[in-house]
Amino acid sequence: MPTASTLSEENGSDKTGSVAPEGVNSTIDSLDRVRVDSSGQRLTTNQGVPVADNQNSLKYGVRGPALLEDFILREKITHFDHERIPERIVHARGSGAHGFFEAYEPLTQYTKAAPFKEAGKITPVFVRFSTVAGERGSKDTARDVRGFAVKFYTDEGNWDLVGNNMPVFFIQDAMKFPDLVHAVKPEPHNAMPQAGSAHDTFWDFVSLMPESTHMLMWVMSDRAIPRSFATMQGFGVHTFRLVNEAGDSVFVKFHWSPKYGTHSLVWDEAVKISGADPDFHRRDLWERIESGAFPEYELGVQIFTEDQAEQFSFDILDSTKIIPEELIPVQPVGRMVLNRNPDNFFAETEQVAFCTAHVVPGIDFSNDPLLAGRIHSYVDTQISRLGGPNFHEIPINSPIAPVHNNQRDGMHRQAIHRGRVSYEPNSLAGGCPFQAGAAQGFVSVSASIQAKEEQGKVRAKPEKFADHYTQARLFFESQSPVEQDHIANAFRFELSKLTVPAIRERTVAMLRNASEALARKVAMGLGMEPLPEALPLALPNPAQPEVTKSPALSLLARPGDGSLTGRKVAILVAPGVEGEAVATAQAALLEQGVVARLVGPRIGRMPTASGDVIDADASMENEPGFLFDALILPDGQEAVAALAQDGHTMEFIKDQFRHCKTILALGASRQLLVKAGLPVSMDKSQAQGGTGLILAEAGDAGAAIAAFIEAMAMHRHFGREMDPPLL
Ligand code: HEM
Repeated sequence: MPTASTLSEENGSDKTGSVAPEGVNSTIDSLDRVRVDSSGQRLTTNQGVPVADNQNSLKYGVRGPALLEDFILREKITHFDHERIPERIVHARGSGAHGFFEAYEPLTQYTKAAPFKEAGKITPVFVRFSTVAGERGSKDTARDVRGFAVKFYTDEGNWDLVGNNMPVFFIQDAMKFPDLVHAVKPEPHNAMPQAGSAHDTFWDFVSLMPESTHMLMWVMSDRAIPRSFATMQGFGVHTFRLVNEAGDSVFVKFHWSPKYGTHSLVWDEAVKISGADPDFHRRDLWERIESGAFPEYELGVQIFTEDQAEQFSFDILDSTKIIPEELIPVQPVGRMVLNRNPDNFFAETEQVAFCTAHVVPGIDFSNDPLLAGRIHSYVDTQISRLGGPNFHEIPINSPIAPVHNNQRDGMHRQAIHRGRVSYEPNSLAGGCPFQAGAAQGFVSVSASIQAKEEQGKVRAKPEKFADHYTQARLFFESQSPVEQDHIANAFRFELSKLTVPAIRERTVAMLRNASEALARKVAMGLGMEPLPEALPLALPNPAQPEVTKSPALSLLARPGDGSLTGRKVAILVAPGVEGEAVATAQAALLEQGVVARLVGPRIGRMPTASGDVIDADASMENEPGFLFDALILPDGQEAVAALAQDGHTMEFIKDQFRHCKTILALGASRQLLVKAGLPVSMDKSQAQGGTGLILAEAGDAGAAIAAFIEAMAMHRHFGREMDPPLL
């Protein structure tokens, strides 16, 4: 359709509706109700008045003054003047997608929540992924937590699971949230740095808040620089409750696991990408959906009882703690597929309003004091951000379930309530809308965790909250050596940017309580000698942890289904390239769901060695090497000679090598690796498949491409990583 926004609009659902009929302002359902299609339509004002001339304002004579009566000009300019709304206070930069959730089996034993009622049940969803600290126009690949917010449009109202890609948080109590955000956001005097935590105020704050140590481990790990939204986990973070028909409740933690594995960037790559393509994650999400490589995640739950929770060495109300999977396994309960891009970024992704208070019968809260603050915060902030109390009527926010209550009026009200009754109880409207009652309506779980009424009102924390280091150690000890190195390097980088040495020292003093090895490595990287004394412990004798190593916490344990779907490979081409191997590689990669792009010294058509023509759709200038997951260098003496003359080729190859990606060099192109300084010789017998460097003769292209695909499944080949890099 010429006026469509997306190819994926064909994937209708209860929320998005069907494809809008061309040229018709559809009035069917949900989003279709408001979808505007201007194909074949004449231009009008907002009042529907046809506009004759959209080029010239109304003047008194061609050189005369513009006239106040020009309502067409004034309406257009006035509307333009008010196009912007405030950005979110946190999570300002985000990208959204529509999709569906499908339950595997009924979960009715534990919950009456509508999405889990029966096997195969489909619930429409809208998801928004985000960074936290950066402003709306900032980069996607900043080192940061990623938001992972899911709105389920259930039969019984909207349920928002507003999570992050890390299972813990910096702070334990909502009272500290404004402080945390003020510390990490750009510093107030000069508004720097944008989208980055490597500055004094952030580390000043966290180094005075030892409860943040566990989260700092996650944020300094590669989890904070995901490869894509499709390859990161999501977590509800807090403990919630599931409630069944009988009113019995259990505790639950929610986990999203990406089907295509959990994969990250490396730091040098993330920095370079942020310059060449600040929209890297947004583009990836959009392109995956448009091409049919739909992002997919499995929802898992950790279910446990209050009695079990009482026995744990940590407090399940403390958002700086995980429940190790070895203690309570994660049970898969359904999958979510993102299969439709929004029609309009502003109307949907910007105006969507998530809120942790949006729960449905069958889901309830725990007493987590961080969650309590969130239950208040979201709607409160959205009243300013979205300009009044009626933003639940904005189509992306409105439930599929019908809405009936006696709330009335306010800015921008759209519902036209009939009748004279807007109160309850009433007799004049037959008592309607009537209370649903306990059998159908939302009923809060009455159980409260050891409320200890006798304590009275307190501003205090439970004792186990004061164990700030046991789980920070668990996370660090559970990482592979490469991941541990990356964590140490990230601390080194961030702390090296500080201007106040005392903050650096306090942070290292804090780290000593979590891992002496890590603290030493960081201190060495900062030239800090001797090591500062470890910070005093708030809880000198914490309980023995049940689990001291959790392999599931390592990224290497999360390859997903091992497929390559959605990855991008560069095939470097120049005039005289061996076209046959290029075609074989493209076909083999496409079969794996991989996007193979022909990247040349320039874009456009060029002859192959056999006289055919190929078309380079990207250049090394506009798509540098670090934007690709792997590289193929085809054979062809003339092409190799041309590429060897271009400095971009060397940077392309070096970045691929430095970021530990799979490289295949066929025939003569081996010379390019040598010229770029890679540790390969010109000896033809050499093959280095194990390190992700595959060298093959042009005649073996088929087998070499198969080996390349196998090596790509490893994602990266950290065996060749060096700090500092050799190349
Ligand atoms: C007391 C602690 C917290 C407060 C007060 C708070 C507050 C906020 C606010 C004001 C927004 C902007 C919402 C909007 O304008 O629509 C927001 C967004 C968000 N918050 Fe929190 N937050 C807190 C903790 C957390 C935690 C622990 C998580 C993760 C579990 C989280 C995840 C998110 C996400 C994903 C968004 C973006 C939602 C979207 O995509 O629109 N927040 N938060």
